[in-house]
Amino acid sequence: MTDAHALAARDGIPDDIAYLRSAYPKGDWAKHVNFGELCNFWLHVHQSLRAEGAAVESIIADFREDRLDARTFPQRFVPALNQFLGHLDGHHRIEDAVYFPKFRALDPRMQRGFDLLESDHHAIHAALETTVGSARGLLASLNQPQRDARAADEHAAHAATLTALLLRHLADEEDLVIPAMLEHGERRVG
Ligand SMILES: [Fe+2]
Ligand SMILES: [Fe+2]
Repeated sequence: MTDAHALAARDGIPDDIAYLRSAYPKGDWAKHVNFGELCNFWLHVHQSLRAEGAAVESIIADFREDRLDARTFPQRFVPALNQFLGHLDGHHRIEDAVYFPKFRALDPRMQRGFDLLESDHHAIHAALETTVGSARGLLASLNQPQRDARAADEHAAHAATLTALLLRHLADEEDLVIPAMLEHGERRVG
């Protein structure tokens, strides 16, 4: 993985890695005869992850901007964060263990793209651990009003980093997996 393709540095993936992308424009995906349940499910899971990440960020914003008090905040924040991070971690585990090896087996040209997606998962996992740490710090600070703002700022920054990495990864992964399923058929990877 070159640094230029690292998740935090890149702005999309180049055509030589997403080599099927131009043949399957995003706006036409759902109309393709090979667009079936797995394509639909994949995009749906990604939409849920985007929504869950946004929900956590909005709870943090509500707390920082005094729309949630220190007593109500954890009741909203803890379950939302657990749901988001659990879903994210489970999704990446199944991709790494089950789906990505099947995509790699479709064509040797898939190798570079799936190396990239796997290294994205490591980067996201590291950001996830940092986010869990700062969430713990924030929760521990709630009984100490003078530290609330700083711990909340720190956690908001880590959560925003995680979200930015995730949004980039989800879009790039879709550029690889959906055209591959349209080209080869979902059954080859399902
Ligand atoms: Fe992924
Ligand atoms: Fe994914």
